Amino acid sequence: MTAINDPALIEAFRGAGHVVVLTGAGVSAESGIATFRDALTGLWSRFNAEDLATPEAFDRDPELVSRWYDERRCKTMACEPNGGHVALARLQAGMEAAGRKFTLITQNVDRLHQRAGSRDVLELHGTLHVWRCVGCGEAKLESGPAFTEFPPKCSCGGNRRPGVVWFGENLDGGVLNAAADAAQRADLFLTLGTSSVVHPAAGLIDVALGAKAKVVEVNLQPTAYSKRVTWSLRAKTGEVLPWLVDKALAG
Ligand code: APR
Repeated sequence: MTAINDPALIEAFRGAGHVVVLTGAGVSAESGIATFRDALTGLWSRFNAEDLATPEAFDRDPELVSRWYDERRCKTMACEPNGGHVALARLQAGMEAAGRKFTLITQNVDRLHQRAGSRDVLELHGTLHVWRCVGCGEAKLESGPAFTEFPPKCSCGGNRRPGVVWFGENLDGGVLNAAADAAQRADLFLTLGTSSVVHPAAGLIDVALGAKAKVVEVNLQPTAYSKRVTWSLRAKTGEVLPWLVDKALAG
């Protein structure tokens, strides 16, 4: 019997008072969103992550860094949520309507979960779609076409930067605490489309395992956690999640 046919898997969904989900780049892959490193193609292929994704890089060359992030922002706006995003939004709505708890934690900066209807998403690595002034701190949602000046300027005259967490920066403490608290309280924890190598995000799986939650992994490839989780499914999230959520909500 493969894990997906295990009746105990569906029972775990139906019996969980609090489902907590951690997503990574794999969940957006079927929407055509390139991972950070995969996006370093064409004109960008001569750069590496450290040239573009650190506060030092922005200080050194704000025009280059803001062009790179604005291009990624525009590319994600041209992509659509896939079946995996939609299924997670449906699971949240179904659980909350039944008075149960649901927490979605993502490492993705693309906002596709929100566009699919997910609410109160904990964005561990920030988002491409809010830019803030490095001078006065004013933050603004950006959902329009490509910027016309690089870096974009704040009304106070300061440079504006993307609201993503760069290498060498701390995650937002409030977001991380809320995520760790949810992982600690989870009855069922899903780790979806993440290589589970980047910390502290991957440590949330340890928190859930330590708290004796049942843990489901969905990934095309094995990860360091595959042998420790309760069910490890080798599948595409966009294909397996709609099926699982149908079963979970049918009870
Ligand atoms: N369905 C399920 N899993 C998939 C799919 C899919 N359709 N496509 C890819 N995967 C899996 C891959 O096998 C891989 O394990 O998704 C994982 C993606 O791993 P990463 O690219 O390392 O993405 P992620 O885990 O989100 O990376 C964490 O690292 O690059 C930084 O800050 C960036 O948030 C990112 C963080």
